[in-house]
Amino acid sequence: MTEFTNKEVKLDVLKERAYNMRWAEQEEGVIPLTAADPDFPAPRQIADALVEYIQGGYFSYTPKRGFPQFKESLVRALKQRKNEEIDPDLVLPIDSAARGMHAIAQAVLKPGDEALVFDPVDFLFKTSMEAAGAKVNLFPMKFREDGTIDFDDIEDYITPNTKMLGLCNPHNPLGKVYPVKDLEYLLDLSEKYGFYIMNDEIWSDIVYSDAKFNSICSLGRERNKRTLSVFGFSKSFGIAGLRVGCVYCQDKEIFEKIVDASLVETTIGGISSLSQIAGIACLDQCYGWLDSFVAHLEGNRDYAWERLNRMPGVKCGKPQATFVMFPDVSGIPMSAEELVEYLKKEEKVAIVPGGKQFFGPGSEGHVRICLATSREILKEGLDRVERGISKLMKEA
Ligand SMILES: Cc1ncc(COP(=O)(O)O)c(C=O)c1O
Repeated sequence: MTEFTNKEVKLDVLKERAYNMRWAEQEEGVIPLTAADPDFPAPRQIADALVEYIQGGYFSYTPKRGFPQFKESLVRALKQRKNEEIDPDLVLPIDSAARGMHAIAQAVLKPGDEALVFDPVDFLFKTSMEAAGAKVNLFPMKFREDGTIDFDDIEDYITPNTKMLGLCNPHNPLGKVYPVKDLEYLLDLSEKYGFYIMNDEIWSDIVYSDAKFNSICSLGRERNKRTLSVFGFSKSFGIAGLRVGCVYCQDKEIFEKIVDASLVETTIGGISSLSQIAGIACLDQCYGWLDSFVAHLEGNRDYAWERLNRMPGVKCGKPQATFVMFPDVSGIPMSAEELVEYLKKEEKVAIVPGGKQFFGPGSEGHVRICLATSREILKEGLDRVERGISKLMKEA
């Protein structure tokens, strides 16, 4: 069994290679619990598969729509792990989940269209839809007593121009999985109003033992004709820098539009051979590694949840999925952005602020903390957060 101990975290390598608010971008001594990217090296099998391919010595052009084996491996993994029925001809390997979202939006949205995006959620929904010319309407998320999303007034946010709804399942940054009845309801709405669903399942393998992931695609091919899905490898397998992801759907006509929008047929766009080799290794050989990784993350989640809820001015829900915590810090007398700046300067720990930039206005008063590290680093990071917050609350 793979171990996820401090020994595995190679700080010297991370300081050279881990960008996007992480080790390579921080001042010496700062612990980054920032971008959702693991501190552990990717599973060994990926490096082995890449080395073997590289030693073959050829790096020729690849099939424009991706290696058949990549698609077959994806179809098998989606069926086995999530009960999704996908046709390999309707899978497009692509250079990242972010690119997949962009291609989906470009394929079906045009200027004047509207799109509905939950608030909060990862910024890529809004940015990809806006890049296609759509006007994004934000649906402010509210919750029922049992913690599920309250959809009572969602139809007030849908107009005759609404052509797409963004679904982040599991949800980043809230860490929620959607119950089947909510997914059924979103499909009802998509049928009633005729909009597409941009279904992002990049987090669907990081799900804890007290929750169950349900894919909207598992609710049947017939009902999912307007569902356009994205899957990625950056979170589960730690290969964000290889830029690998894929898009899949049920409708051949829309699939062709996505292929056109991705520019793979022109050879301007496309995913590299090495990224696909890595993706195949993930799908065929790395789910055992992933299950151990999720078990480690679950320990970190429970530890961080207890600690955060003991800090003054902080309230934190327990994520069912993802490796991010999203505590409410509105009890601390400064904005989330100011708090993040303060913690970085005074305590040398970096976290991500809620607010418009990353997750939408509904995330004000929150911060996001990444758990994908060793328990030692997480403990030291949380010690620093706690020390900073305690000082602030004493001064208040
Ligand atoms: C919900 C969601 N979708 C997409 C992405 C982007 O993934 P990729 O690195 O494959 O572009 C992320 C990364 O944080 C994410 O959280």
